[in-house]
Amino acid sequence: MIPKEIFEQSIRRYFSPIAPYLDDDSVSEIMINGPNEIWIEVKGKLHKTDARFEVEDDLFSGAKNIAQYVGKTLNELNPRMDARLPDGSRVHVVLPPCARNGVTVSIRRFGKFSLTMEKLISYGSITPEAANFINICVQMERNMIVAGGTGSGKTSLLNCISTLIEPSERILVIEDSTELQLQQPHVVMLEARGPDSKGRGKVEIGDLFHSAMRLRPDRIVIGEIRGGEALSLLQAMTSGHGGSMSTTHATYPDDTLRRLETMAMMSEVEMPLVALRSQVASAIQLIVQTSRFNDGSRKLTHIVECLGLSENGEYKIYPIFEFRHRGYGEGGKVLGQMEPCGNLPTFMDAAKERGLEIDESWFRPKQDPRRRR
Ligand SMILES: Nc1ncnc2c1ncn2[C@@H]1O[C@H](COP(=O)(O)OP(=O)(O)OP(=O)(O)O)[C@@H](O)[C@H]1O
Ligand SMILES: [Mg+2]
Repeated sequence: MIPKEIFEQSIRRYFSPIAPYLDDDSVSEIMINGPNEIWIEVKGKLHKTDARFEVEDDLFSGAKNIAQYVGKTLNELNPRMDARLPDGSRVHVVLPPCARNGVTVSIRRFGKFSLTMEKLISYGSITPEAANFINICVQMERNMIVAGGTGSGKTSLLNCISTLIEPSERILVIEDSTELQLQQPHVVMLEARGPDSKGRGKVEIGDLFHSAMRLRPDRIVIGEIRGGEALSLLQAMTSGHGGSMSTTHATYPDDTLRRLETMAMMSEVEMPLVALRSQVASAIQLIVQTSRFNDGSRKLTHIVECLGLSENGEYKIYPIFEFRHRGYGEGGKVLGQMEPCGNLPTFMDAAKERGLEIDESWFRPKQDPRRRR
């Protein structure tokens, strides 16, 4: 194992063309599309830089160095890699010939950008009422999915939501590559692993799930659901592991449920579609959608309860908060915010009985001043 300080020095040496961006806290992502094209993301917007790698080998060696540090294999037979740097940044590498531009690397700088609910409120990504509601859902152990497009802020939001879990709970976290940073005292982190150069030793999310269930979890948090492991998660959610949470790629609440259904179908266990659908419908109780807008901002767009299936077998979605777009401001800034849809949560009384502070006024639509006479 390479010591952390030596690794950080070697990263800076191999990756010297991007070192200034690694030191710049305003840069949230660095994208290397081969040696001659480097982009950065600042405040949610992409900018092409003049930086380039004179020697492509440095780029390749830097990537190999990361692989060595995290104990992964990066070569012709394993040309893709997920990793995490000591500062918490997430790295993905693809080597040529799969990467047509040359060695392609993306560094998402999570560590320095850890978001809190307060920050999300101050950025206008969520309102205090919607944040309070999510907190109540966590306390009420609702099973939830954070869904959204690529880079829309799903993992960051799941990280914020996970901080709302009581410190007394035993939390099992399962990820492909560690991104979440839970601060509670009793957390067990499990990370999937690719095969070694001889194709041995692969450990998948589904395998870790199997272990997690035997490690007495109070809650299960899965970084992202991408495939057949969806079925295991759904089964856990309906069998006494309430309050489990995960993220997935989907744009609207309805898509999210259908996508979970499709992913559950990828599992090795064969189940008829009707059975799968009712499994999804009884497992998922809350969906929080995130979106990346044109101005680079990330916002929550929907918070909905899922109320099972209707008589004709369709998912019943019960909207609680929705983002209302109010046009564009200076510099193309997206205007608008999450607004209540006028529906009280179905578990309002149960939450009050548990002694949680929940207020009906959070869910009352505000009067639109433009409609007032
Ligand atoms: N509400 C927010 N406001 C501003 N920036 C945000 C917000 N949420 C996330 N970000 C930033 O957006 C980037 C993408 O966030 P994140 O990794 O959470 O998205 P994701 O949807 O999980 O992405 P992926 O689809 O790649 O898994 C990060 O740089 C993060 O710091
Ligand atoms: Mg993510």
